[in-house]
Amino acid sequence: MQTIKHILIILFFMSYSNKVKAFVWLQQDIEQQVDSLMQKMNLEEKIGQTVLYSSGMDITGPVLDKAYKDHIKAGQVGAIFNATGAAYTRKLQKLAVEETRLGIPMLFGYDVIHGHKTIFPIPLAESCSWDLELAEKSARISAIEAAADGLHWTFSPMVDISRDARWGRVSEGAGEDVYLASLIARAKVIGYQGDLKQNNTILSCAKHFAAYGAPQAGRDYHTVDMSEIRLRNTFLPPFKAALDAGAASFMTAFNELNGVPATGNPFLLDEILRKEWGFRGFVVTDYTSINEMTHHGYAAELKHAGELAMNAGVDMDMQGGVYKNHLLQSIQEGKVSEARLDEAVRAILRMKFKLGLFEDPYRYCNEETAPNILMAPEHMEFARELAQRSIVLLKNHQEVLPLAKQQKIALIGPMATDEVHILGSWAAQGDRAGKAVSLKEGMEVHGLRFAYAQGCEILKDYRVGFEQAIALAKDSDVVVMAMGEAEYMSGEAASRTNIQLPAVQRELIAEIKKTGKPIVLVLYNGRPLDLTWENQTVDAILEAWFPGTNGGLAVADILVGEYNPSAKLTLSFPRNIGQIPIFYNQKNTGRPADAEGAHPRYSSKYIDADNSPLFAFGYGLSYTKFIYENIALSHDKLGPNNSISISVEVTNIGDRAGEEIVQLYIRDMVGSITRPVKELKGFQKITLQKGERQTIRFTIEANDLKFYNKDLEFVVEEGDFLIGIGGSSEVAMKHSFTYSNK
Ligand code: NOJ
Repeated sequence: MQTIKHILIILFFMSYSNKVKAFVWLQQDIEQQVDSLMQKMNLEEKIGQTVLYSSGMDITGPVLDKAYKDHIKAGQVGAIFNATGAAYTRKLQKLAVEETRLGIPMLFGYDVIHGHKTIFPIPLAESCSWDLELAEKSARISAIEAAADGLHWTFSPMVDISRDARWGRVSEGAGEDVYLASLIARAKVIGYQGDLKQNNTILSCAKHFAAYGAPQAGRDYHTVDMSEIRLRNTFLPPFKAALDAGAASFMTAFNELNGVPATGNPFLLDEILRKEWGFRGFVVTDYTSINEMTHHGYAAELKHAGELAMNAGVDMDMQGGVYKNHLLQSIQEGKVSEARLDEAVRAILRMKFKLGLFEDPYRYCNEETAPNILMAPEHMEFARELAQRSIVLLKNHQEVLPLAKQQKIALIGPMATDEVHILGSWAAQGDRAGKAVSLKEGMEVHGLRFAYAQGCEILKDYRVGFEQAIALAKDSDVVVMAMGEAEYMSGEAASRTNIQLPAVQRELIAEIKKTGKPIVLVLYNGRPLDLTWENQTVDAILEAWFPGTNGGLAVADILVGEYNPSAKLTLSFPRNIGQIPIFYNQKNTGRPADAEGAHPRYSSKYIDADNSPLFAFGYGLSYTKFIYENIALSHDKLGPNNSISISVEVTNIGDRAGEEIVQLYIRDMVGSITRPVKELKGFQKITLQKGERQTIRFTIEANDLKFYNKDLEFVVEEGDFLIGIGGSSEVAMKHSFTYSNK
């Protein structure tokens, strides 16, 4: 028996080492191919590889500027974005492959942010599922559809941490928490890229490097000024996670960081990304962000801006034309070295080789198979499943939900029949009207007894529909109101200084309230809203976000209880906008308002609002209830070489099966810099049948406690730690252990 085991082990290692050898060989092979191609390239052709242009659109479909076509034929374009469709990308690729001296294929990029044709819930919504498998799978399907449509490269994932709901782009991220967002960043990169060997895997792009999620006053593109400790502890980890998962490219951010625009920032791009982290992919700018360095007041003219970007480590210029127009001169003048250009070109070519484009430049252009792949039934089915798991139940007074089938329902609101906004922002290729499923259609599928009145529009201040809606409400048992933001009210360039529902919608809710009927508010929006008034007014709130192509079905599934909601918030909902930025992992201050004996006035608080958010990070209700008991630690001493196992018993005490996201928080009591009041360090998503109890275990090691300390060392410091486990970040931190280096 022992001998057989030994033979098996030897065989395993032989095959493993063969795989390693094959991998190393492949890498070497690619490097050699890149080198030999580069020897043939002249300076203009090398610069060409750093040029990324956007295709345009007219009513007949995608079109490319005549000048860009000429540049392609001259071998001066390395990549195109916003061109989709297997036939169209094939046509463009032909120009590069058949009409240029060296025939170097182009890369086709696109903002495939939450699905390509089949649109999934917006990324913020998806993160509320806390489900890494689903997050990976949605990226996988996005890649399959994008690749079928001629694309090689997505400008996703956006891994910017943000704690400011005024910023419209919180919709594109994974929320406020570093730990969860880092795991999601990893899942997305793996989902898109796989091993990059098949023709249905695509390059990912971690963006926007860095600190784009912390613009001053929540205004998009605005200035960022933050300490390096904060940058490293909060904003960089998701980027590092994306890189560790193999992210092929990084996109620079529009903002400046501590006075230096991110696109010309050697500290970010060279010191951290390349030297410290060893990144070997390529760095692309955001849209014209080299050019924008003149507005920042960092470069007097474009040529200088290009030099700053290239020398900082930017390899590809998105749409700015600065490298195209000025880089040759900068090199001739010795302002940029040819070696630096070579490094940029090498990074780009490496990815083209990895994608297999030199073997077959058209391997992503398959016109015949595309129709069977785009919006395939299994993709749509998955979109429904993911939407179910992304929708957060915020309030359910007297169990008004789920609805009973015999109830007479008044369905009211501008989002009830919507098939456009429900896709959310960055759903450019998503098929809207006709393909997307509205809530009304979802309710029809479930055979509910309902009548519909729009009541009002999303924004327009008309009350003409109020009367009909009120009459409908009066004649019903329960009112479902589908309200929210228009899709363009979140996303890029959609910062808001007021994050309430539009006034006309609130007025309609107030009128319906007067009928005395129970109100279920279904919300479609891309950011946390100020729901203080709604929370006092309506009976149930279902946060549907922008749930994607099959969103209406998923919402209806939850309304009738066919799916029991399980999602939990990943971004705090403030009580009012004045609390922003608000997040659970804040610092304690010297005068914490909740400390024993805190001064009634001179403690850190507002005089007109509570400190706590309206709905906290990690919060979300279910149609059943879970209780947490008997938290136990295997040891109360942790060192560099052992671990602590923490267990908790979770019981489903309600009357139906449900999923729960069990969350573990830790507090480092004293540090060389002050530490947050709690930090998420683990979570598990479990399913419990009615009455079922399960023991859940977490393991904590020294590594989990590391942070960048006052000397910017990534270490664990000795001392006491507190632990809390529960179903939201508002858990009591009652258990403790001590860490010692001995
Ligand atoms: C600007 C956005 O900031 C970025 O996220 C996007 O990928 C590019 N435009 C390309 O569309």
